[in-house]
Formats: sequence, structure tokens, C-alpha cells
Amino acid sequence: MSKKYGFGLIGCGIISKWHADSILKIEDAVLVGATDNRREHAEEFAKNYSCRVFSSVEEMLACDEIDIVCICTPSGLHAPMAIKAANAGKHFVVEKPMAITKEQMKDMIDACEKNGVKGAVISQVRFTNAIQTVKKAIENGELGDILLGDVYMKYFRSAEYYASAGWRGTWEMDGGGALMNQGIHGIDMLQYLVGPVKSVMGMCRTLARDIEVEDTANVLLQFENGAIGTIQGATSIEPGYPMRIEISGTRGTVVIEGEEIKKWDVDGKTLEEKEESEEKAKSYQNPTAFSTDNHTMQIKDLIDAIKENRRPLVDIYEGKRPVDIILGAYESSKSGKMVELDK
Ligand SMILES: NC(=O)c1ccc[n+]([C@@H]2O[C@H](COP(=O)([O-])OP(=O)(O)OC[C@H]3O[C@@H](n4cnc5c(N)ncnc54)[C@H](O)[C@@H]3O)[C@@H](O)[C@H]2O)c1
Repeated sequence: MSKKYGFGLIGCGIISKWHADSILKIEDAVLVGATDNRREHAEEFAKNYSCRVFSSVEEMLACDEIDIVCICTPSGLHAPMAIKAANAGKHFVVEKPMAITKEQMKDMIDACEKNGVKGAVISQVRFTNAIQTVKKAIENGELGDILLGDVYMKYFRSAEYYASAGWRGTWEMDGGGALMNQGIHGIDMLQYLVGPVKSVMGMCRTLARDIEVEDTANVLLQFENGAIGTIQGATSIEPGYPMRIEISGTRGTVVIEGEEIKKWDVDGKTLEEKEESEEKAKSYQNPTAFSTDNHTMQIKDLIDAIKENRRPLVDIYEGKRPVDIILGAYESSKSGKMVELDK
């Protein structure tokens, strides 16, 4: 019988269910137990998922049945938990953002390299059909040279949302606001599609909510490949809109809204015309083309990466990229100057 990978989960809040449901669906994964500093959260989770309660992170990490730890705590605790896991010889899946400071990310990477363990960072939107279709088209040169890459995330989060857990909207535990918490998905998509970002110029403001961090932000981008772009990230917008990504190259423009390709104007053809001419299925509309449960896909990929001794699809080096862009935007917003990102 093939090995079953034992999972432990830290932080039994909203997102923990995505991890637990995924683990239950993966054949060679087993959910051993969970821990939470509010024991009642861990007890309810353990009741729902028929697993053990560990009374502390240390007790969980000392358990030989655990190979992989899912870190679902507030963002400011991702790094300390991941470093403890790595030092105990456990692989980990950490929720986005990977961590909230440069020092934390460096310490996580050092701990993984020193202990020979793998870390995966959740970025589930990368695996949607729309993003994968556009990624392939850009890689094949179908859009030509990329000129402009923009993402607009005009979201609404209420005052009640920010009051719903003490860590939300704080620098110490959320690490930022509309960009670091909600916007990181779109920022990761933009840099995944267009390529690494060289420098950023940010204006990050707190205009509408009673929080420490930004609720409204504009960021200008210079990509390494010469393209330029814009990030708009907000949680202050009434009534709120789905994420929109617009990418223009020398051969045309593609617009993604939510999880759908809304416009495909490339070489004078629509997506339907392009796919007909290539006799391909409309992969972006075909629900079986990629897993709809992208958390499951990423957790299964970490198991495969361990077995095959390769990098997970979104590892700690990839997970660092959108956080670097966001931290650069914050620094630029404070200084009023363009910030060059580390390579
Ligand atoms: N991938 C996504 O789309 C997505 C969606 C939502 C949240 N998230 C991320 O998941 C993380 C958690 O968000 P959430 O909305 O589930 O938060 P939440 O507040 O609902 O849950 C956090 C849990 O962690 C527990 N916790 C706090 N401190 C702890 C400690 N020291 N030790 C153990 N447990 C502790 C809390 O008691 C709570 O049960 C955040 O980093 C967030 O950015 C990702």
C-alpha cells in the first residue's frame, strides 16, 4: 500500500474548511489533527472532520504521524508557524500571503533550505481556466510583446467584516489591507501572466474604513520585460466589483473578469474564432479542463512534489513575489519615491 501523508492544521477559522475538505478528497492524504489557540475552534473542527485536537503547535509538531502542516492562522503568524514546522522537519502549505515582511520571508526560505523541507503557498486563482488560457497564450507569443498589464480590484468590505476578527485591518497581523489581504490574488495573477516586476510607485490610503491599513490604493508598475502597468486595490468601493485584469500586447488585448475571459481581441479574432481555427475545446469554459477545487490541486501538488523531489507549483520563492510588490508599494507610498524591487 502506498504511503499516506499525515496532515496537521493550525488555525481552525474560515479558510481551514477548504484545507480539510481538500485533504479528505486526496487519496494519499489523511487528516490527523488540528490546533487553535482558541481550543473551542479546534474542538468544533475536530468534531466536523473526525480528527484529533492537539493542545499546542509544539504537541502537533512532535507527532510522528504528521508529515505536512496546513497553516491557516492570521497572516502575521504564517512565518513563525512555518519556521517551527520546518525546524521540526515537516513540510507545509501556508495560506496567502506567505508572510508579511521581507525578514519573515527570508527566515522561512532559510528554514526550508536548512531542513530540506518543502513549502507551498496557496494562490488558487492561478489554476482557474481563464488564467491558464491567457498564461499559455502569452507564453506562446500570441499577444506579441506585452505593453500594458493592469489589475483592478474594486472590492467592498464592510466595517462589520473588519470587526469580525481582531487581527483584520491591523499592520501586525494582516500586514496590510486592500493590497496585502484581498488584492494579493490579483497582484499575483498580474505578475504570473506578465512577468516579474522591476519597480513600483504606490499611493496607499485609508479613506473609508476605521482601520490601520490601506482601504484604497493605486500602484504603477514597471515590469522587467519593459511593459508597464497599474494595480488598483480597494475594499472601500460601493457596491464592489469582481477583479478585472486587462493585458495588451502588440497583437491584441485580453480582459479577464472574475474567473471568465470577457474579451479576447487578438489578431482580429475572438477566443471562439481562435479555438475553432485550432480545433480546440473552449478550455476556459470547460469545467473539467482544470480542477475547480484549486486548494485541493495545490495540496495534492505538494504531495507529488515531495514524492518526486521537485518544487511545488507555487513554492516559497514564487509566493514571495506578490508580497515583494506589495511591500514595495507601501514603502513607495510612504517615501513618495519609486521603489526598485530586489531580484
Ligand atoms: N486563499 C484564500 O482565498 C483565502 C481566503 C480567506 C483567508 N485566507 C487567509 O487565511 C488566513 C486565515 O484567514 P481566516 O479568514 O480563516 O481567519 P479566521 O480569523 O477566520 O481564522 C483564524 C484562526 O486562527 C486561529 N489562531 C489565531 N492565533 C492563533 C495561534 N497563535 N495559534 C493557533 N491558532 C491561532 C484563530 O483562533 C482562528 O480560529 C489568513 O492569512 C488569510 O489571508 C485565504
